[in-house]
Amino acid sequence: MKKMFALALAATLSTAAWSQAFPSKTVTLIVPFAAGGPTDLVARHLAEAMRGPLGNATIVVENAAGAGGTIGATRVARATPDGHTLLVWHIGMAATASLYRNLQFKALEDFEYLGIINDVPMVVVGAPRLPATTYRDLENHIRANAGRLNLAHAGLGSASHLCGLMWQSAMRLNQSITTIAYRGTGPAMNDLIGGQVDVMCDQTTNVMPQIEAGRIKAFAVTTASPLSTHPVLRHYPSLQEMGLTGFNLTVWHGLYAPKGTPTAVTKRLNDALQAALRNPEFIKRQEALGAVVARDRRITPAGHKAFVAGEITKLRSVIEAAGQFAD
Ligand code: MLT
Repeated sequence: MKKMFALALAATLSTAAWSQAFPSKTVTLIVPFAAGGPTDLVARHLAEAMRGPLGNATIVVENAAGAGGTIGATRVARATPDGHTLLVWHIGMAATASLYRNLQFKALEDFEYLGIINDVPMVVVGAPRLPATTYRDLENHIRANAGRLNLAHAGLGSASHLCGLMWQSAMRLNQSITTIAYRGTGPAMNDLIGGQVDVMCDQTTNVMPQIEAGRIKAFAVTTASPLSTHPVLRHYPSLQEMGLTGFNLTVWHGLYAPKGTPTAVTKRLNDALQAALRNPEFIKRQEALGAVVARDRRITPAGHKAFVAGEITKLRSVIEAAGQFAD
């Protein structure tokens, strides 16, 4: 009995020791897309809001782009499980599980789930030179120019790729728009503004400043209902309202550590995440860009993992219906 008590005490002390000692060095948030895009923006806002709750730790954001986010995700899955290398990734965690048949990681087995961060609607946007001004004009223009227009996205399995896939499938225009992959929708946005690409489906966090500056055209939002309370986005219909019945896509972002990260560390990280999600400045910055900060059960590790498991099942049918695989 004494031995068991001693072991339990040692474990408790080590847990407390782990928790107090963490973080012992710089915490790196890996963003699996290029700098300047929506995932990068979420990570930079989050780093600032988690710094205080982690004892004024040094938190840096590092971009590890490529292959629709799977290169950066693989790097975190293989990182030392000590809590100092984390992944900020979105719906791609679920989409790539079906899109890639030879992934170097398993979504539900190779990560510790630290909580969902936010939900971000998407907007169908276009180059300023497009002749269309309304969504109806845009769809007619696409139909009249089958094979001559192109859509930018951030790689197979990215949110912009998934939206493009779902949008073309809903319009029954599969393969009629050429898709062009970028290392993130940050660089893709530059080409949209410049007119090198015609359309894109991207997150409000990235398109909002460009819409407000009049540098791109906006046509419709991807949420089931219009964003009627948002000062800028309330002017655009939902794709569902435009006849794409059932179209409903919102991009969620989550925080992950490598599998095997000590429980005391993952709890410390989840506590710091939840503190960040309550931070009024973080909420204000996110909501100004159309994002909704998570407040439900998904902010817990168990809720986060259960949610992603459901999203993998849901998106598998979408991806198999589109019949496109990445490898
Ligand atoms: C996406 O389309 O998955 C994201 O916009 C990629 C990014 O954050 O650049």
